[in-house]
This record gives sequence, structure tokens and C-alpha cells, in this order.
Amino acid sequence: MITKVVPGQLVATIDAEHVAKEAAARIAKVLRDATLSTGLATLALSGGNTPRAAYALLAKEALEWTKVHVFWVDERAVGPTDDRSNYRWAKASLLDTAPIPAANIHGMPGDAPDLDAAARDYEALLRKTARLDGGLPALDVVVLGIGDDGHTASMFPGEPTIEITDRLVVAVPAAQPKHEARLTMTTPLIENARAAFILAVGKDKSAPLERVWSVAGTLKETPARITRGIRGSVTWIIDKTAGGLG
Ligand code: 6PG
Repeated sequence: MITKVVPGQLVATIDAEHVAKEAAARIAKVLRDATLSTGLATLALSGGNTPRAAYALLAKEALEWTKVHVFWVDERAVGPTDDRSNYRWAKASLLDTAPIPAANIHGMPGDAPDLDAAARDYEALLRKTARLDGGLPALDVVVLGIGDDGHTASMFPGEPTIEITDRLVVAVPAAQPKHEARLTMTTPLIENARAAFILAVGKDKSAPLERVWSVAGTLKETPARITRGIRGSVTWIIDKTAGGLG
């Protein structure tokens, strides 16, 4: 009986350095193809530690950066210079190196006084900027991570966020001590991605990956299972310890 199915392509590499190299090259190819074929490429970045090395290598890739628009998958309810800010770390690893016009960099306003209004504004920006598919923005590249608890973006186990279908971006209330208030893209938007890359490094990712790849399981228990519903290409780029080896 089949108990596990990896939805998409699995790129299993030996270590974090190779995860970064594989991710940067593959993301760059999708962005390059999109700018060449449509004159626009939309990229949505997750936070966390894992993707930073990939972002730094991506910044050095040769592509038409002036045609790339950068969004965020999620953001903490902090300002852009706060050490917890996903924007802050993307700026240090990608934005300060890649020649992306400031007008193309669309940070999520985590420090907005009204996060629900900020979420609605961000959704409107996405609808205006990204190419649509099926009436929804279809981002060319969405970079995702997976938390040890099986969360992705800022959709956490047991919380209602994963079940929202009438919004593309929402505010997530704080649930201390697990997480502060956030802004996050939701399932309908992430599922409409043209290409999703999920990066996972380290032995602590092995169990949540198993829960995502297991045939049995629920979105509420493991929100990263939304990757099973992504209509575009899904590429898992993991190191051997995340794959349960060594
Ligand atoms: C965030 C991310 C989050 C992240 C996972 C994995 O804002 O924290 O968007 O979803 O991808 O928590 O984080 P690591 O890469 O640090 O393990």
C-alpha cells in the first residue's frame, strides 16, 4: 500500500550549501523564462533561516532584474529593520545585491497600525501587479519553508488561517509563545503559484516533511500540506538530514 507520495520533484542534496545552489539556479531559471516570455516575473519570498543562502546566490544570477517584482509570503508584525523582519533578512541577502528597482520591491507592512487593512491593500497590490490565472494572481515563483511543527508561510497547526478561502492575504493574530502577530499569504494564493520551491535543511525537518508527504494527514494538523494542492510545479530542495538520511 502506498503510504507516502512526494507531490512534485524531490531534489535531495548533500548539505545546506548545495540546497542553496540548487534553489538559486532553479529559481533564477523560472524568473528568467518569465521575464523573457512575458516581460514580468513575480517572486514571493518566505522568511526563516533556510532560504537566506539561496537568496544570496540568487542575487548574483544574471537576469532582467528590472522586470522582477518581489513580494513576501509572510511577515512578522514588526518594522522593516527589526531583527525578526523577513524583509530585513531578504534585504541583506538579496535586495542589497540584485539590481531590483525599489518600485518593484513590495514589502508586507508588518508595522501597519491596522494589519487587516494592510492585508487587504497587499492583496489589491498583488491583483494589480501579478499576472492572473483563473482570476487570481499566479505568482511565477513562491519560495516556502516548513516549520518543525509543519507550518508554512504563517499558517500554523490548529489555527483557522489554513482554512481561509475568501482572502489572498490575511492578518494572523499573535499566539504567544509560538509566534507574534503576522501577515501571510493564504492557501488560494499559494496554490495558484506557477512554481513553488520548498527548501528544508536539517534533521528537524524530517518529521514535518514525512507528515506532508504522508498519504494520510490533514491541512489543519500540517498546514505545509497545502503544497499538495499547488497547481504549478512543486520542487522540494532538501539536504540529506531533512530527508532522514544520516
Ligand atoms: C517565517 C517563514 C516560515 C519559515 C519556516 C521555516 O516567516 O518564519 O515564512 O514559514 O519558512 O518557519 O523556517 P526556517 O527556514 O528558519 O527553518
